[in-house]
Amino acid sequence: MSLTFTDIKKTSIEKINLLENESFENFANSSKIKKSFISKVEGFSINQRFYIGHIYANMVADQADIVSFIIKDKYRRQGFGTILFVKFIFTLKCKGVREFFLEVSEKNIGAQKFYNKFGFKKIGCRKNYYKTNSGKENAYLLKLQT
Ligand SMILES: CC(C)(COP(=O)(O)OP(=O)(O)OC[C@H]1O[C@@H](n2cnc3c(N)ncnc32)[C@H](O)[C@@H]1OP(=O)(O)O)[C@@H](O)C(=O)NCCC(=O)NCCS
Repeated sequence: MSLTFTDIKKTSIEKINLLENESFENFANSSKIKKSFISKVEGFSINQRFYIGHIYANMVADQADIVSFIIKDKYRRQGFGTILFVKFIFTLKCKGVREFFLEVSEKNIGAQKFYNKFGFKKIGCRKNYYKTNSGKENAYLLKLQT
């Protein structure tokens, strides 16, 4: 079964929320993502027979702030994140984006390794950025210059 990418604006809002909630269940302020919000972002979901994951960003001029990037737990470490990320970066670069930004928890070593592989650099730290059920977590601010 072949992989398909769907524009995030055309992706089911229920599927987006389901994945966000199961991935960040440990995080306190989980809020419901609205269709009106998704209609303003750029990104994709990736599907085979099932929903595998998604990525989306706020794009302003030549900058993109990555808001969410998640691969469903059971599909991780199989290269899907890389496939989706490459497609996303390529597409936004074609739309004129030159700088990508994102926040990642200082405890999220797996994601940090992923971003490091793609050339993201640490440019700052945001104290107590995430509220989790076991306390607050600092975030690193990362940037990719293309
Ligand atoms: C980050 C995430 C999207 C990566 O997706 P993925 O499909 O697992 O990524 P890939 O399989 O393409 O991994 C590519 C490389 O990234 C690195 N990497 C990814 N996850 C890693 C982990 N948990 N530990 C160490 N390295 C990791 C590895 O170098 C990996 O290559 P390898 O498997 O050949 O060693 C996924 O782990 C995820 O959804 N995490 C939960 C949500 C999240 O933290 N999102 C980021 C918020 S800022």
